[in-house]
Amino acid sequence: MKTYLVTGGAGFIGSNFVLYMLKEHDDIRIVNVDALTYAGNLENLSELEGNERHIFVQADIRDRAAMEALFAQYNPDYVVNFAAESHVDRSITDPGAFASTNVMGTVTLLDSARAAWAQDDGSGGFGEHRFLQVSTDEVYGTLEIGPSNADGSPADPATADFFRETTPLSPHSPYSASKASADFFVLAYGDTYGLPINVTRCSNNYGPFQFPEKLIPLMINNALAHKALPVYGDGLNVRDWLFVEDHCKAIDAVISRGRVGEVYNVGGHNERNNVFIVKKIVEEVSRAVGDEAIDERLITYVTDRAGHDRRYGIAPDKIRDELGWEPETRFEDGIVRTIEWYLAHSEWMEHVTSGAYQDYYERMYSGR
Ligand code: NAD
Ligand code: DAU
Repeated sequence: MKTYLVTGGAGFIGSNFVLYMLKEHDDIRIVNVDALTYAGNLENLSELEGNERHIFVQADIRDRAAMEALFAQYNPDYVVNFAAESHVDRSITDPGAFASTNVMGTVTLLDSARAAWAQDDGSGGFGEHRFLQVSTDEVYGTLEIGPSNADGSPADPATADFFRETTPLSPHSPYSASKASADFFVLAYGDTYGLPINVTRCSNNYGPFQFPEKLIPLMINNALAHKALPVYGDGLNVRDWLFVEDHCKAIDAVISRGRVGEVYNVGGHNERNNVFIVKKIVEEVSRAVGDEAIDERLITYVTDRAGHDRRYGIAPDKIRDELGWEPETRFEDGIVRTIEWYLAHSEWMEHVTSGAYQDYYERMYSGR
């Protein structure tokens, strides 16, 4: 039985990953370490109650003693590091929190893995372990809008520019700067100490359990309440959307078959501009609940995000060619599944939008 130490496994992608892996593999157990910040939610994991292959530990990845104790107690074969401050808008108002968790938290985990995994045979090796850093396409910076992006269509892979694993890192937000910095530390631990690492850089995820500070769940929640749909700037910024389960499958593939030391980009040539996404949500939510008052007149253009990257677009050739990974969920299906999930989980939404969320929304959007 292999043991995975998954950090941030009560957040959006982490909880999807934990659920996916335990369903997919009978011969693993997961030690799920999460500090339960505003973004962490044990409700995401409620279906695992009583499952002995899932061990939840509330701890902070910056806490060296706690991390060392976990390595000593559970002897994990693999680490998958999702734990992070993940929201760009919050990084603009509180960059220090991002440096602390995303950079220092990652370094603390790397040190704990290095100490725990060092072979005592004098070889300087680390055996069959793997440390996988879950990174983001945002570390590459921004791309020009491709010719076919203008009407909301994905850019043409034959003609447009994309982020490749060889693209130099050029982050613009405090969030992406902290993630790029963490990437450099992970790669440095590979080069300097021989720690068996991988970095995955994925594009924008969507799906169940995403906190409604991010575009898609925020728009679904606002549309249902007939609230304004706040689109930043001209709404023509482009993101490359991937259904979260496809991201989980990519990480699973990299841990089991990826070459040690390699970076893998994850994305599916599914670029859409923000206005396209919001209009699609309006159409699908309105249809799903049979409410014609949910229409495009709710769309409100608001002040742009500072340093707003114009376009992200991933070239996923390496992970496809080396590991045979390709996205399986088409956006048209994934967005309907996602909306259906939110409609069926209105209690989940009520819980995460009570209290502190209202203050956050007020701070970010009132008078914007
Ligand atoms: P999220 O904000 O939903 O979840 C983050 C989780 O980390 C939460 O459960 C939180 O409690 C936990 N956490 C935060 N600080 C911690 C700390 N100091 N110690 C322990 N736990 C801590 O984020 P997400 O969207 O699920 O993203 C997960 C990872 O994937 C992040 O590293 C992010 O950079 C990366 N990523 C996200 C996307 C995306 O579209 N959401 C795309 C590519 C990469
Ligand atoms: O690309 C991967 C990244 O995707 C991850 O690394 C981040 O953790 C994740 O948060 C996400 O970052 P983005 O900034 O792209 O996601 P967000 O959902 O915040 O915004 C998506 C786009 O929508 C972006 O262009 C900003 C815009 N937007 C967002 C919100 C919340 C709006 O127009 N209005 C909004 O209210």
